[in-house]
Amino acid sequence: MVAASRWAAGKAARPRLAAAAALLPAALLALLLLPPPRAAALTLPGMDEEKTITQEDPVVTKLKGMLSELREKVGDNPSDFKSLLEMGTLLARLNELDPDGGKRVPQALAAFRHALDLAHDPQVRSFVAAQMGDLLLAARFHREAVHILNQTVPLAQRSGLGKTDTFARMLLHFAKAQRELGNEGEAQRLFARALKTARKVSPHVYAQAWLGLEEYSEREVKELEDCAEFLRRRREGVDEEHLSDGEMDEWLDLAERWTWLDGELKSKKDQSAVAYALAAAHRQQGRHEEAWQALHDANEVRRTFDLYTRVDEEDNVGQLLRTFQVPKAPEQFENEADAVWAALLQGRWGYRNDSLRPIFVVGLPRSGAALLERILTRHSQVGSIGGQSALPTQLRGLLDLLAVEGELPTANITAAGNRTLARMRRQVGEKDAAKAGARFVLDRMLPNLWNIGFIATSLPDACILHVERHPADQGLSCYEQPFEGKFTRWSFNLSDIAHQVLLMQRVAEHWDALAPRRVLHVRYEDLVREQERVIRLVMDHCGIPWDDSVLKGGPKLHTQRVQRFRGQAHVLEPLLRPLRQLILRYERSAGLLEYSGPLLESLLGPEEEEGRKDDAGSISAGSSSGRERAEAEADGAREEL
Ligand SMILES: *[C@@H]1O[C@H](CO)[C@@H](O)[C@H](O)[C@H]1NC(C)=O
Ligand SMILES: *[C@@H]1O[C@H](CO)[C@@H](O)[C@H](O)[C@H]1NC(C)=O
Ligand SMILES: *[C@@H]1O[C@H](CO)[C@@H](O)[C@H](O)[C@H]1NC(C)=O
Ligand SMILES: *[C@@H]1O[C@H](CO)[C@@H](O)[C@H](O)[C@H]1NC(C)=O
Ligand SMILES: *[C@@H]1O[C@H](CO)[C@@H](O)[C@H](O)[C@H]1NC(C)=O
Repeated sequence: MVAASRWAAGKAARPRLAAAAALLPAALLALLLLPPPRAAALTLPGMDEEKTITQEDPVVTKLKGMLSELREKVGDNPSDFKSLLEMGTLLARLNELDPDGGKRVPQALAAFRHALDLAHDPQVRSFVAAQMGDLLLAARFHREAVHILNQTVPLAQRSGLGKTDTFARMLLHFAKAQRELGNEGEAQRLFARALKTARKVSPHVYAQAWLGLEEYSEREVKELEDCAEFLRRRREGVDEEHLSDGEMDEWLDLAERWTWLDGELKSKKDQSAVAYALAAAHRQQGRHEEAWQALHDANEVRRTFDLYTRVDEEDNVGQLLRTFQVPKAPEQFENEADAVWAALLQGRWGYRNDSLRPIFVVGLPRSGAALLERILTRHSQVGSIGGQSALPTQLRGLLDLLAVEGELPTANITAAGNRTLARMRRQVGEKDAAKAGARFVLDRMLPNLWNIGFIATSLPDACILHVERHPADQGLSCYEQPFEGKFTRWSFNLSDIAHQVLLMQRVAEHWDALAPRRVLHVRYEDLVREQERVIRLVMDHCGIPWDDSVLKGGPKLHTQRVQRFRGQAHVLEPLLRPLRQLILRYERSAGLLEYSGPLLESLLGPEEEEGRKDDAGSISAGSSSGRERAEAEADGAREEL
């Protein structure tokens, strides 16, 4: 028996916990505390991470001041249209600038809804609804966004807004929301319409709509090439004095065609969007070398403003793993504190409630999380809160609790778990009323991979699913993505990607040691090849009763990326060399048909030398015996899949 009141007795083990908070650097705290990636997309380069916790941004302070004034006004006059509209807009802006896990979203929506009821002029109504669409999309309330936009788009068109930036944005958001709901055909139609509307009207939508398209006609590829060429030359600078007359004419022609973009397409994200789209278009045509060039340009543009430091990330992970030390086996307990620590991590003082079981899907992006979510939420008892995780807001508090001197505040740990669950219950209802009473709620904030220690401590009932995928395929897929979140800044450079993959592998292995069998590893390839078997295992792991409805609809299979870029082996080296061992190990244990030993050997040379000079490999496994051990453990943990 373990008595939490005896926590203080085990002095020997105390420093490790007392120091837990001090161990965690501000940057990690910021990471843990910050809300989901989407909402945090506004974080700027060089921004002092500490400020996000302790010091408030002056703009945020000012907006909050304005907000309380508006609240008073609306309190005095609940039908004040202008104040309601301002209030909604302000709340939406605060949700971006000062994310609090989405708490302001329902308030903003209520204000907009009320404003909409008061507006009669179709143009005004369209405008309010467009603002609402923006917010719903940012908050990832896709169903509701589609509902609103479906009514608003025809209204806006009828009221003469058809060729405006507002209208183009509406179409773009409509398309994105449809895509998120899995209505790809409808989404494609809307992306094409957004592109058409945006030409010479909305540079931002123009760039982003290209990115949404899945197929490009010959004419469209030419247009994209032209646009990308203009942006590239603008970026790199044109030395007009040294151009021949012919070159000068050509440049002036090009510049004239795109003057409407110039100056307005300031956003590096939009500039890179055009390059990402061009890469996709060239890939579609089988022009892989040009595709690679465009992809490289796109990522370079992003990397220059979304700075990322490998060393910091590694430090953070080191601190995290030191904080959550693997508990000793019972026969090795030296004192009461060892026993308490083990019980704590088994969730002895966490909160469980039979009416709601949380499911956390964690891992790296492009590993099948969205597919898994889509399949599981077909079940009538499984709802989802998407990436708006309820967990991060509790982390700082939990960390403080672990560092408390004296008696372990067990009731407070229970209360923190209770708060997380209560919030998930509320969020799922807000997102989709039909799932308000769901027994299972899925949270798809992938970086919660960092937070499994906290989940194990506060939510003993939580079902944790770690999505995995062939490392090279996953890494390259990330490189092809125009990610926006602050958790994906490693995705713009192949060496950074390889480093991140190995680092997260290390984190996942740590949790397996800390809480054996707690995490189910779900391979993307298995999910695609043997969907029913894998989904049955997942549902069994989470205790979801079987229902045939989950098997409706088919997955989309992504093909082998490495093979596709084979002609340019040298460019893939920064990704493949550090990942070589992991790739082979992954393929072996997954039983993949596409064993890439020979391919890697032809690209990177014989494996023998690798082991000695491959220092990146040591992040994951260290000595070869350590590697074997890790492999055996990984196999053990995966047996059930
Ligand atoms: C959009 O509205 C039309 C009627 O204007 C309706 O037929 C259609 O089903 C709606 N689509 C969605 C996705 O709500
Ligand atoms: C479980 O959650 C429901 C809904 O919030 C609540 O009514 C009930 O009291 C909770 N049960 C326990 C044991 O806390
Ligand atoms: C635990 O919760 C109680 C009641 O809410 C509170 O008074 C106390 O300060 C909390 N303890 C810690 C260490 O946070
Ligand atoms: C959980 O929180 C609810 C209020 O949200 C409270 O009524 C209930 O007693 C709490 N349960 C536990 C076990 O703390
Ligand atoms: C990745 O970034 C590093 C600098 O941090 C650079 O030296 C390297 O060339 C980049 N790798 C690739 C493949 O672009």
